[in-house]
Amino acid sequence: MNAEDARSWVRAARHIVLLSGAGMSAESGVPTFRDAQTGLWSNFRPEDLATEEAFRRDPSMVWNWYAMRRGMVLQVAPNAGHVAVAAFQQRHPGRLTVVTQNVDGLHQRAGSPGVLALHGNLSEDKWLDAPRACCEVAKLRAGSPPSCSTCGNLRRPAVVWFGEMLPLAQLAAAEEAAAACDLMLVVGTSGVVYPAAGLARCTPGRVVVLNPHASDLDDAADAVLRGTAAELLPVLLED
Ligand code: APR
Repeated sequence: MNAEDARSWVRAARHIVLLSGAGMSAESGVPTFRDAQTGLWSNFRPEDLATEEAFRRDPSMVWNWYAMRRGMVLQVAPNAGHVAVAAFQQRHPGRLTVVTQNVDGLHQRAGSPGVLALHGNLSEDKWLDAPRACCEVAKLRAGSPPSCSTCGNLRRPAVVWFGEMLPLAQLAAAEEAAAACDLMLVVGTSGVVYPAAGLARCTPGRVVVLNPHASDLDDAADAVLRGTAAELLPVLLED
């Protein structure tokens, strides 16, 4: 099947879920999670930085890694794939739900409404430990990371680290959308991280994987399109 053929499934679908991963943003210039790290960070594996344990062991190292990623994301823009998704949603209100594992905010910046960001947002922080009465964002002690000037509680990125629960409301909404859709487009994910990948395994809808390389979700797909997000989505989502 090619993208033109898959378009007939898009046209026929009453409700579509687009489940995206890091490959969705690759053509914006954001390296995927399982790509080799570059520069200063080339000796670290993301899996070893994206944990609470790593943050507690060396808060400034992990904070600085996220600061680097925040800075990078601010310098890039949504690509033709993000734009095609948002444009489809504007033309067909309520017909497509974006569920993303990405924390880069590019779907939102492209104009997609109601994005379900399963792994949080890179641009936000939260308290590491449950905030006490003294913990006020307005009175932070500057630093990498910033902290409560009274008790020392640290700020941390508001992203989901390995071993952590996903935001319950977002996950429930994503599960509901997956259970109700008749088509799921799985874009740019290796499909190895659960529960996100499980959405593609549980949906009663048709599943189309869009990925230039083999992924762990290919076996759950009714069709696999070998190509990139920015190439395929504008074709697939054209009216
Ligand atoms: N278009 C579409 N897919 C692409 C592109 C592209 N231009 N470039 C690369 N890909 C694919 C790769 O082939 C790979 O299958 O994107 C996928 C990226 O996989 P990962 O790096 O594993 O990213 P992801 O699946 O989003 O990871 C899931 O793991 O580390 C955690 O929380 C992190 O959300 C992340 C989760």
